[in-house]
Amino acid sequence: MEINSEIRRLIELGTKAPSGHNSQPWKFKVIDDRIEIHPNFSCSLPVVDPSHRELYISLGCAGENICAAAPAFGYIANWSSNLTPSGKYSIQIDLKKAELEPDNSMPKLILERQSNRSIFKGKFIEEEKIDMLKRVSLEENINAYFFKKDSIQSNVIKNFIMQGNEIQMNDTNFKNELLSWIRFNQGHVNKTRNGLTYRVMGAPPMPKFLGKMIVKSFLKPEKQNKSDQQKIDSSSHFVLLTSNNNTPAEWIALGFSLERLLLKLTELGIANAYLNPPCEVDLLSDEFKNSLQMNGYPTIIMRIGYADKTPYSPRREVEEVLLNNESSIGKQ
Ligand SMILES: Cc1cc2nc3c(=O)[nH]c(=O)nc-3n(C[C@H](O)[C@H](O)[C@H](O)COP(=O)(O)O)c2cc1C
Repeated sequence: MEINSEIRRLIELGTKAPSGHNSQPWKFKVIDDRIEIHPNFSCSLPVVDPSHRELYISLGCAGENICAAAPAFGYIANWSSNLTPSGKYSIQIDLKKAELEPDNSMPKLILERQSNRSIFKGKFIEEEKIDMLKRVSLEENINAYFFKKDSIQSNVIKNFIMQGNEIQMNDTNFKNELLSWIRFNQGHVNKTRNGLTYRVMGAPPMPKFLGKMIVKSFLKPEKQNKSDQQKIDSSSHFVLLTSNNNTPAEWIALGFSLERLLLKLTELGIANAYLNPPCEVDLLSDEFKNSLQMNGYPTIIMRIGYADKTPYSPRREVEEVLLNNESSIGKQ
């Protein structure tokens, strides 16, 4: 089926969403004025994300990009998520043409957003900006908490990040999965158009075998903790996102809320990076939840602050993430 250029552009903006290890675990299907987003489990991360929680969050982020950008193309968007007969969840976005003022600001913000793993500038975010972030509308059952550096809760979070690193960096399966998503040189990047590139990691290009050896030597608890400690100290706040029921429908809703927050951060010129180990390590997640005494299941932890822009991550082409007929959904 021929897809009109506006819908194609919306899908392209959907693919600019963040995803764990830049795995881009989505497939888009177009039926008339409806865009569906389906999980692509061949890009799942079985070690770090066995329940597919982060995968469904990524799908929600892609959904929010499409809904937020739709008015720029003269559409009003309405979304819902559904359990498909095959037991997977998917997102439906219904687009309706409307008379709208042309405004290209949202597509621009979507392209500008990035995860920024650099050391930040150590400057605190102004309280009025934190208030603006707190006013970003979140989906039902999703909560966002902001903790200033050196507050009691932020020290608790830091402590759990260190414990999470200790566990992940001693886990050979975790390290092998991470290594399999690192792209060590431009040829490697061009071939896959996904994953964590040497540029994003702040490393020079090198042959794959050499890169693997070098990165392996860095994947050690002490090294990871030293680096994260420095990065946390350079940041202004932690942001913690929780969902009340820890279900796939809420993971998708959390993704929509997360992306809305990320686009607001981008608009305010504030950088963000994820430090998710305490939410990812089963052994820690209950204790982490209890120590913070707040609503919901801790799901996403980010540090935010001011920083210079860093290189952007690649994306696969729209054609590579399109599902053209129903029968191919299960095969991708
Ligand atoms: C659910 C989720 C979890 C993530 N967890 C981490 C993480 O623990 N550490 C990290 O450095 N990046 C994490 N990321 C960021 C991704 O690696 C990033 O989105 C991806 O590489 C694409 O880069 P971009 O966000 O700059 O477009 C996460 C992203 C999502 C959506």
